[in-house]
Amino acid sequence: MSSTAITHIGSLVTNDPSLGAGPIGLIEDATVVIEGDRVAWVGPSGSAPAADTVHDAGGRAAIPGFVDSHSHLVFGGDRTQEFNARMSGRAYSAGGIRTTVAATRAATDEELSANVAHYMAEALRQGTTTFETKSGYGLTVEDEARALRIAAGHTDEVTYLGAHIVSPDYAEDPAGYVALVTGPMLDACAPHARWIDVFCEKGAFDGDQARAILTAGKERGLLPRIHANQLSYGPGVQLGVELDAASADHCTHLTDADVDALAQGNTVATLLPGAEFSTRAEWPDARRLLDAGATVALSTDCNPGSSFTSSMPFCIALAVRDMKMTPDEAIWSATAGGAQALRRTDVGRLTPGSRADLALLDAPSHVHLAYRPGVPLITEVWRAGVRAV
Ligand code: NIG
Ligand code: FE
Repeated sequence: MSSTAITHIGSLVTNDPSLGAGPIGLIEDATVVIEGDRVAWVGPSGSAPAADTVHDAGGRAAIPGFVDSHSHLVFGGDRTQEFNARMSGRAYSAGGIRTTVAATRAATDEELSANVAHYMAEALRQGTTTFETKSGYGLTVEDEARALRIAAGHTDEVTYLGAHIVSPDYAEDPAGYVALVTGPMLDACAPHARWIDVFCEKGAFDGDQARAILTAGKERGLLPRIHANQLSYGPGVQLGVELDAASADHCTHLTDADVDALAQGNTVATLLPGAEFSTRAEWPDARRLLDAGATVALSTDCNPGSSFTSSMPFCIALAVRDMKMTPDEAIWSATAGGAQALRRTDVGRLTPGSRADLALLDAPSHVHLAYRPGVPLITEVWRAGVRAV
């Protein structure tokens, strides 16, 4: 197998504390050797082994490719007018999802697939090499299964979110909709998905409904994750921890008991600052979670309603400025944290054996991702050992 060495990386975030300094395993003047789709060697350039091909990074910083563990990319239409109205003072509500449901049902398979490809390519150019995405804008058996089939054409990390809101077709019969989501819709969707999710929130699904939905999914072999405590306090976070969800996503309104549950359990707290930015909501308290010992991931939540950004660097800058994370913490959360939220050990770090996913920055340090917000610093992206950007 031929090897490629990326040499003279000014500073490299490995997320492997045994390889470098601090929790992000930082190495100055580093080399990464790639064989096939894997990292074969990582360390100081001075002791790097020979490789068949040498690619000189010229002192640029490098980080593991971002792991965006939460997006909603299978959608039709957009919600520019709703965003405009919100920026004039109207509040965000889950009801806007219905607009996208209508547009998604009206779109062809080709249109939806092209849309997913478009936003994944946009994210790749900004350094994202692992993507999760979900259904949730179909809300019929056929439209949810179609969304998952389309998503699975673009990523392995596919989530069944038939329980995004009660379908408008069941407005008078929410219990009937939960029966559909846990019955025939689950039958049609489970073969196409790895994960099951539910929006546990006032105006969407309550704790009992969310428990029934996640439990039915687990019985079918799907792994749980949950949209929890986004718009208000509620049972979602503690339910997620109790059911061993890989991740509780949003975590904006947390009681001390919610924070304790996240700190003691196996569930990652995934924070989505793009949503608070685009809905002018209060920021999740990342500092409180980190100080309590919870594991925090950062993700985009890319969707046309509450967070229409595919940019992990933007989310990092928000997390550092407004959620009081340090740059090192934010970069860890956007890479290794996202991997943990997807229960993956092969991505989110650069260590021998991991997938060779990395982004080179037009900057001497990863700190510039927060220090130079809004600047397109990602100059090169390698995915599974192949130069992708
Ligand atoms: O994660 N919270 C629920 N779902 C999305 C919003 C979807 C929409 O508004 O279209 C979210 O923010
Ligand atoms: Fe979401």
